[in-house]
Amino acid sequence: MDNPPTVSPREDYGIDAPGVVRANLIFGLAACALAAGMLLQAAIPFGEWGPTLLVILLFIGLSLILTAGIMVHGSRVAKLRLRDRLLAQLPFRGDERLLDVGCGRGLLLVGAARRLPEGCATGLDIWRGADQSGNTPARARSNARAAGVSERIDLATGDARAMPYPAAAFDIVTSSWAIHNLPTRESRQQAVRECLRVLRPGGWLAIADIARIEEYAEALETAGVRQISRSRPYFVFAIPTVILIARKP
Ligand SMILES: C[S@@+](CC[C@H](N)C(=O)[O-])C[C@H]1O[C@@H](n2cnc3c(N)ncnc32)[C@H](O)[C@@H]1O
Repeated sequence: MDNPPTVSPREDYGIDAPGVVRANLIFGLAACALAAGMLLQAAIPFGEWGPTLLVILLFIGLSLILTAGIMVHGSRVAKLRLRDRLLAQLPFRGDERLLDVGCGRGLLLVGAARRLPEGCATGLDIWRGADQSGNTPARARSNARAAGVSERIDLATGDARAMPYPAAAFDIVTSSWAIHNLPTRESRQQAVRECLRVLRPGGWLAIADIARIEEYAEALETAGVRQISRSRPYFVFAIPTVILIARKP
């Protein structure tokens, strides 16, 4: 059983993929409404296919609504627990320089800053609203204020594929549910190589993401990283999330 997530009531980390949630709800409700209309009144002559169509419509409609519900629960509840689980696996001293790639509204960034009384957590993002509702630097800052860590965070605008930092600039690099948003395997692996470049030798990389963890592990192995672990799958969203932890040689 997980502990309750470390979060104050004023922190708000938004909804991931808000357009997908909205589309699932709209099409799900429409399919259910159509099925209900068929049930209430057989005005449209569906003939012998009527019952089959009804079951298909109900199945599709309820599945879409359930998926939207899982996605909202994932963003509001399950993600927060997994964030704490990921951070608990990193050996914080408390004075590290940490980079969170694709920080969005600061879920991982703020959680990390809580563990860095003497350090600094930098959030890098291109602030793409399609990936998370209201993911602006102002929202990330306001979450950091609510958590009492605003003096320990720093925000920057930049692309994960070409980070605006010199090599070995950070002790820890993290990323949650961000790299899968890049469109191609090559671009996702380029982002992983960038994570490794800006990490100091002996530093830790932690990535939580859906679907693409093996691509990330492959990029790390090709770059000579041998210490790589993957967690079991966690059902935060409709697609399982895996946490990858690696140490730069
Ligand atoms: C689903 S949100 C997750 C945000 C945050 N890490 C969290 O767990 O709540 C994905 C984030 O990745 C950012 N992102 C997408 N493509 C990016 C890129 N090429 N470089 C940097 N950030 C990117 C988006 O703007 C968005 O804020």
